[in-house]
Amino acid sequence: MASDNYDGKHIHDRNHLNGDVISHSPKKPKLYSFITDSEIQSEFSHHDPAVARINNGSFGCCPASVIAAQQQWQLKFLRQPDHFYFNELKKGVLQSRAIIKELVNAEYVDEISIVDNATTAAAIVLQQTAWAFQQGKFQKGDVVIMLHYAYGSVKKSIEAYVSRAGGEVIEVPLPFPVSSNDEIISEFRRALERGKAEGKRVRLAVIDHVTSMPSVVIPVKELVKICREEGVDQVFVDAAHAIGCTDVDMKEIGADFYTSNLHKWFFCPPSVAFLYCLKSPRSSDLHHPVVSHEYGNGLAIESAWIGTRDYSAQLVVPAVLEFVNRFEGGIEGIKKRNHDAVVEMGEMLCKAWGTRFGSPPDMCASLIMVGLPACLGITSDSDALKLRTHLRDNFGVEVPIYYRAPKDGEVGSVTGYARISHQVYNKVDDYYTFRDAVNQLVSNGFSCALLSK
Ligand SMILES: Cc1ncc(COP(=O)(O)O)c(C=O)c1O
Repeated sequence: MASDNYDGKHIHDRNHLNGDVISHSPKKPKLYSFITDSEIQSEFSHHDPAVARINNGSFGCCPASVIAAQQQWQLKFLRQPDHFYFNELKKGVLQSRAIIKELVNAEYVDEISIVDNATTAAAIVLQQTAWAFQQGKFQKGDVVIMLHYAYGSVKKSIEAYVSRAGGEVIEVPLPFPVSSNDEIISEFRRALERGKAEGKRVRLAVIDHVTSMPSVVIPVKELVKICREEGVDQVFVDAAHAIGCTDVDMKEIGADFYTSNLHKWFFCPPSVAFLYCLKSPRSSDLHHPVVSHEYGNGLAIESAWIGTRDYSAQLVVPAVLEFVNRFEGGIEGIKKRNHDAVVEMGEMLCKAWGTRFGSPPDMCASLIMVGLPACLGITSDSDALKLRTHLRDNFGVEVPIYYRAPKDGEVGSVTGYARISHQVYNKVDDYYTFRDAVNQLVSNGFSCALLSK
């Protein structure tokens, strides 16, 4: 009887006859087990050992076995490009899309396109909005609403596609530190009311699932529901961090568009993301901004050929699935353990520095905002960046720092937060290195003002 590493469980190769293990088998029983700590370290042995990398959030990571699978795809192309183009590429991309469709609980595989990254996905959605203005479907002054903490490049994209086309943009102010989903929900409702004032139409809501800086999990399901109740035309969820990091279920969330990078928390090499587009009569309006032979054949097919390039990152999704299934509970198990670990490490840091989180643990995923000692003197975005560089160059710590301006009258409050991540390769020592570096800065009387421009 063949053994199978079914559902990530330990399975012994046993020949059963009346419930007994047959003892005459010439082969030794084979034991399949979960990935071990040393196998994890070997999968990530290409990481710089001199760096405490507690910033998975920015660029993700890719294990050696997936890099090897990617190289196989690259070689397949280079060995016989024509055969690859005519016989392998479409099939391979479809296989990746089918896996993603199952993972994110979409209804149809046609709703899933594979694109380079969340930036490209945003361009696809916003380009459709710009055309609606140009074609007179939307009127000058119609509104697009977005969160104040929307990602910088997405804000630029909104400026490029929406503002230039005559649309008005409304930002939802969000509190930080934040203590409950209700604070976010009520700010969102207020902004929608402003959007609808004077009879204006809110055409698109752009909502983050996990904001980048500061990092907070947004109650997207509730916000999408409010948009539906309030007659917002379309909702785009920018969930660049989401898959592998928080719950991602297309039917539950109910947005029109939803994108997540696969190269952040889903172990793919750069660059690959999925863009979900709810099947609707307007789906045929969506096009990849890079137009090639497949124009007009549907977004998923257009996106699968945008000219000659390396498509290998899109083809390794089956290899990634194999990798994550070596962990107990697969990607769900990884996600939960990362969340628990990042909270535990964050609590250790807060205790060491006498500070607090920027949000309650249930509003964070595999990243959490940890308050830094006020005496570090972080007084601007530029200070935050300089401190980050200082930590990298002098202590081998890679961690993004967020500057939070004090409110009027606030004195001596925490103005700097570190966004720490946890991924399977992290060790407790990575966080101790960070703790000790900050403690050393504090005991040396360091202040950001001492760093040169
Ligand atoms: C919320 C959010 N949106 C969009 C992006 C852009 O992702 P990419 O650079 O992979 O396109 C990021 C990157 O960190 C992000 O955090």
